[in-house]
Amino acid sequence: MAGSVLEIKDLHVSIEDKEILKGVNLTIKSGEFHAVMGPNGTGKSTLASAIMGHPKYEVTGGSITLDGEDVLEMEVDERARAGLFLAMQYPSEISGVTNSDFLRSSINARREEGDEIPLMKFIKEMDEAMDFLEMDKNMAQRYLNEGFSGGEKKRNEILQLMMMKAEIGILDEIDSGLDIDALKIVAKGINKLRDENFGCLIITHYQRLLNYIEPDFVHVMMQGRVVKSGGSELSQRLEAEGYDWIKKELNIEDETINA
Ligand SMILES: Nc1ncnc2c1ncn2[C@@H]1O[C@H](COP(=O)(O)OP(=O)(O)OP(=O)(O)O)[C@@H](O)[C@H]1O
Ligand SMILES: [Mg+2]
Repeated sequence: MAGSVLEIKDLHVSIEDKEILKGVNLTIKSGEFHAVMGPNGTGKSTLASAIMGHPKYEVTGGSITLDGEDVLEMEVDERARAGLFLAMQYPSEISGVTNSDFLRSSINARREEGDEIPLMKFIKEMDEAMDFLEMDKNMAQRYLNEGFSGGEKKRNEILQLMMMKAEIGILDEIDSGLDIDALKIVAKGINKLRDENFGCLIITHYQRLLNYIEPDFVHVMMQGRVVKSGGSELSQRLEAEGYDWIKKELNIEDETINA
């Protein structure tokens, strides 16, 4: 399907009755790469979890739509089937389910019954993607993320993203814990997906990832809102100067979100 649009409008999200997101507006179209930056604890991961429908995060206002369909009405698995993919900041370990089985059932969940991916085709595609990401083949038969190093987990998220053929990918700190070579490999994986049918939201703290994946748009989140948007010059300025200048420019008081 060509051209998806994920539209987030005035999104309010609470956790245990505490409001974390206070009106987020963001539109991601396929073909576009968006970076989201911002100080710790400002709600970036909350945004990612709310988009995917994590039950802990209560949406108290606003809307999320994918091609006009109400995402908030969808169950988590329906969101994945609709083409949303989240690479979590802290990927979960699932004991007893091999990486390969998990991948295959995730792919099949997005296909019609009776149109499951043929096993040989799946193995070939997985082998190719693992080669591309320079992953050890025995990772396919290990239990999902169990005992994986931090960097191996992140690389495995990209393996899933590449194989799932998602329409919109949300990558939460995909660069954290990666060594210098792994950072380049993960970036190479994301760049390989860049085409008019794929849009991406990349949550990151550092310019180092954006040196390899050039974002079309950079957004800054503070205190539960997107407070500033720009192009890649914005992330370069943040890298050089930190966040104080934005707070001054926008007259944002220094309050922690937990205050
Ligand atoms: N499950 C939860 N229970 C209680 N508080 C939570 C929960 N999840 C998030 N919070 C709080 O919500 C706020 C926003 O957290 P979030 O993880 O979205 O921040 P972040 O912008 O992703 O930060 P970081 O850059 O450190 O990853 C924080 O104050 C956090 O403590
Ligand atoms: Mg986070």
